[in-house]
Amino acid sequence: MILGQEIYDSNGRMLLGKHTELTEENIAYIAFLGMPGVYVDDEFSEEIQIQEIIEPEVYKAAVQIVHRVFVYSVEPGADREEEELRQKVTEIVKAALAQKDVLYNLIHIKSYDGYTYFHSVNVAILSAVLGAKLHLSEEELMDLTTAGFLHDVGKVFIDTDIINAPRKLTPEERAMMMDHPRLGYDFLVTDYHFDEDVVQAVYQHHEWYNGQGYPRRLSGKDISMLARIIKVADVYDAMTGRRSYHEPYLPSDVLEYIMGRNGMEFDPEVVQLMSTELCVYPIGCEVQLSDGRHGVVLENHRGTIMRPTIKLLDSEEKLNLTDDRSTWNLTITKLMM
Ligand SMILES: [Fe+2]
Repeated sequence: MILGQEIYDSNGRMLLGKHTELTEENIAYIAFLGMPGVYVDDEFSEEIQIQEIIEPEVYKAAVQIVHRVFVYSVEPGADREEEELRQKVTEIVKAALAQKDVLYNLIHIKSYDGYTYFHSVNVAILSAVLGAKLHLSEEELMDLTTAGFLHDVGKVFIDTDIINAPRKLTPEERAMMMDHPRLGYDFLVTDYHFDEDVVQAVYQHHEWYNGQGYPRRLSGKDISMLARIIKVADVYDAMTGRRSYHEPYLPSDVLEYIMGRNGMEFDPEVVQLMSTELCVYPIGCEVQLSDGRHGVVLENHRGTIMRPTIKLLDSEEKLNLTDDRSTWNLTITKLMM
């Protein structure tokens, strides 16, 4: 098997190049990195067209700059970081605006180690895509993406043992955790010059639509639109990723969770958009059908995101779960990750 993508660590170093042969050693290494799966290049996958929202190079550079802001945040050089961050934000906003027809389709590339940085970049990208579809202005999209990158920066001031604890937190620890939006806000206001909308979105990204969130129990439209978008993107990416305290949930299950909390935790407008535009079975992923057969996702259909077209592994037959009547009694029961 030949690798169909490049693999980077959280410092942006390329670990394995595209077209690398997948030896047993390399496969073990990929598993060690905590990656749920990789794209392979072979005859079977020839017609599978992966639509990347952003170029791997941009993704890599974005992870690097977020890493620097988070790790060296107490060092001088904030102005330079701010400028570099702005460049990456511009590229992501451009990509989000240019690809309005592409459903969000991001395979999670996260090593446990660099979780926060990958997560921040994923949240920024998903937020930008959602924001573009909600017709935000370019300036609003810039602020939204910037806030997506920085939403959890307050966590650098909290003990990593608490952040990664695979157990229930004590009330004191929980209070400390719940202070990270304010810590992030204070830090950004003191050391950087971001727009007020950016720092407010960071401050508000754990508020709930019904007013039961934290830290200020804001509700409805009192929470900024940017924060309401980031809230959904944050939960989606956190739940679909691998953490010390849970295995990744299936994107379709997470979407159902989000839809179930529509109007409670999440803004209905954003949930509505997610439920039609999010690609819960990304192209190139292997799925299991309710009759036990396995296939690879070939194409997604807007509006019926749970029912993509797949190519069966054994017969190479194509099944369009939206249009083929013969498939209407079939469901996808598992995403092989
Ligand atoms: Fe957070």
